Amino acid sequence: MAADIDLKAAINAVSDVVQNRPRPIREFDQIYMKTGDMVMQSEFVANWANGKRLAFIGDGDSISVCVAYLHARKIVDYGPSMITVFDFDERIVGAINRFADRERLENLRAVLYNCIEALPPTKDFECFYTNPPWGASNNGSSVNLFVQRGIEAVRYQGEGMIVIADDEELDWPAEVLYQVQSFASERGFFVSRMMPRLHTYHLDDAPDLRSCNLVIKSRPGNPIGPESVSIGDGERLDNFYGRDAQLRVKYVREKKRLDYGRANESEYEFEIVEREEEE
Ligand SMILES: C[S@@+](CC[C@H](N)C(=O)[O-])C[C@H]1O[C@@H](n2cnc3c(N)ncnc32)[C@H](O)[C@@H]1O
Repeated sequence: MAADIDLKAAINAVSDVVQNRPRPIREFDQIYMKTGDMVMQSEFVANWANGKRLAFIGDGDSISVCVAYLHARKIVDYGPSMITVFDFDERIVGAINRFADRERLENLRAVLYNCIEALPPTKDFECFYTNPPWGASNNGSSVNLFVQRGIEAVRYQGEGMIVIADDEELDWPAEVLYQVQSFASERGFFVSRMMPRLHTYHLDDAPDLRSCNLVIKSRPGNPIGPESVSIGDGERLDNFYGRDAQLRVKYVREKKRLDYGRANESEYEFEIVEREEEE
């Protein structure tokens, strides 16, 4: 992290963002990054994407919001010129857009989108960021669907940051890293940087599992690739969110607008202090 950053101000800003995040749905691999790692990661992303148009393919963590907010609050004096988040969870999309409205983050917006659909026509992006489902049970095909959408967002010319599992003890993260690098390479991208075992998560069944930043970049003169199209019922949907967890939900709909920083009334009730009646 750059030495001249006010760490207390940065942690407090990220704390505002964490307070605004909907609770994670484990079934869809929404597993949030720990706050200290979010601070470091957001500063790194702000620097990496400085002055560029950045697409997030999924962002339960809210790194997009941290990046925009740290910049707007002048805690870091660099950041992307525009950020668009594509996520299938309306709670996440709504929370990001409400935060952006409240804090007047004019260059941040989120849209409802499922990766199985063709990417909507948008402004050309120069870089993408994704922390996808990690593909433990499908050899990384779920990661590669998110990566494909990221590569389409930059039209095969630009950079991407892919945040996926990285562990020295387990075989599956290494296999997924191999599959993702092959997939990117077939599309004209090379690994420009790999930051191993960097982030930790609120993941009760594997608290030590970390992720890396796999940064990819298109080779010089990489041709613009085919247009984005929806995918059919292919094998990429099997074991998408883990063993026997197929991708079958199109959108997670928000039932009721919640103030995520406050306890929901369904979580508690009051037991009233008993007092003797005065005569
Ligand atoms: C799968 S989680 C990965 C863990 C990550 N730390 C997080 O919680 O953001 C990443 C994001 O992808 C979104 N997501 C999951 N399936 C999706 C899909 N089919 N299309 C678009 N977004 C999806 C989730 O809502 C979440 O915000």
